[in-house]
Amino acid sequence: MAKKKLNVGMIGYGFMGRAHSNAFRKVSNFFDNEYVPVLKAACARDAEKVKAFADTWGYESTETDWRKLIERKDIDAVDICVPNNLHKDIAIAAANAGKMILCEKPLSMNAAEGEEMCQAVEKAGVLNTVWYNYRRVPAVTLAKKLIDEGRLGKIFHYRAVFLQDWTISADLPQGGAGLWRLDAAAAGSGVTGDLLAHCIDTAIWLNGGVDDVTAMTETFIKERTHTATGKVQAVGIDDACAFLARFKNGSLATFESTRYARGHKALYTFEINGEHASIQWDLHDLHRLNWFDHRDESIVRGWRSVHVTDGDMPYMGHWWVPGLQIGYEHSFVHQVADFLANVPKGESTAPTFRDALETQRVCDAVLGSAKSGKWEKVGGA
Ligand SMILES: NC(=O)c1ccc[n+]([C@@H]2O[C@H](COP(=O)([O-])OP(=O)(O)OC[C@H]3O[C@@H](n4cnc5c(N)ncnc54)[C@H](O)[C@@H]3O)[C@@H](O)[C@H]2O)c1
Repeated sequence: MAKKKLNVGMIGYGFMGRAHSNAFRKVSNFFDNEYVPVLKAACARDAEKVKAFADTWGYESTETDWRKLIERKDIDAVDICVPNNLHKDIAIAAANAGKMILCEKPLSMNAAEGEEMCQAVEKAGVLNTVWYNYRRVPAVTLAKKLIDEGRLGKIFHYRAVFLQDWTISADLPQGGAGLWRLDAAAAGSGVTGDLLAHCIDTAIWLNGGVDDVTAMTETFIKERTHTATGKVQAVGIDDACAFLARFKNGSLATFESTRYARGHKALYTFEINGEHASIQWDLHDLHRLNWFDHRDESIVRGWRSVHVTDGDMPYMGHWWVPGLQIGYEHSFVHQVADFLANVPKGESTAPTFRDALETQRVCDAVLGSAKSGKWEKVGGA
């Protein structure tokens, strides 16, 4: 098949800038798509640092102003890897310039912003996707397949947690490189938009829409020095959040996230209990899917730990041989592979901006409920 080039312009070279660059570089060695990504330009504000990043990862050129990157005729797709408060302006400008857009999660600071972004990409007719990458961990994709085949039967419960422990010190400042997540003006919210957004996206994908929620949040450290001003300022993010949810399919859910769970670095787990079977998944052991099937003969019935590495399991036929696992970074490779496969079809790749807006609406309802102390309906279109 004759290959076509898809020129990528990446904005932001931090954690996600690296994860995505790695995915763009690897994807065509493992997935045979008509389009091959070309690392055309990397953009960030510091000219020297972005040049060093571009040299390390093989970008052909650099920019220090994202508007310039978007104006360039030789860029086909814009990849947004910057803090949340910049997503909207960049995405709308990129849509207006007719660029395809790959945007990091959460889509936006809130649902109102997200709606504007959806309208911009839909009006411009540009292909889009949002990097909720956990959907493309093979074990999670397998969970989706098992649920869609009806193997669990009616679903009663969904249970998700995302636990970390990196903000317990009161000496940690808010704002600036690496710490923008503690600054509400840059992040929008704390664990709700950062960590629970992942749990909510996976949950909606696996179990359908959410009707209503009731939540509590806490900010354990009320004031922190702001990196930009050097002043001690009120902290506006939620350090921890727990919420109950009712899904449209009648199932009940609990979600919990915190950055104050000493001993946990990135413990994302979910469990789903159905009429016939249950599923468990754990990011720390991401290539395994735990499965319990009540229909098994009682003398051998029990939890199985399925090692998701065989060639007939989602995405695994593209990698090594059965028994050899892949990791975190491959979920990004899979998302790029799916995006590239959809380009010739003229289709956006799930989760699209519109799909990700649904997660934003749940986040808004969660934060609203934590304030009102009441159950809140998830707003609709
Ligand atoms: N999908 C995931 O699992 C996942 C994981 C981490 C982060 N994220 C998301 O990715 C985004 C970036 O997070 P990160 O962890 O990579 O952050 P980071 O702090 O590591 O990197 C942010 C980058 O943005 C750049 N930047 C900031 N302002 C800019 C501007 N005005 N113009 C150009 N560049 C600018 C910084 O220089 C830095 O390179 C966030 O939206 C975050 O929520 C997603």
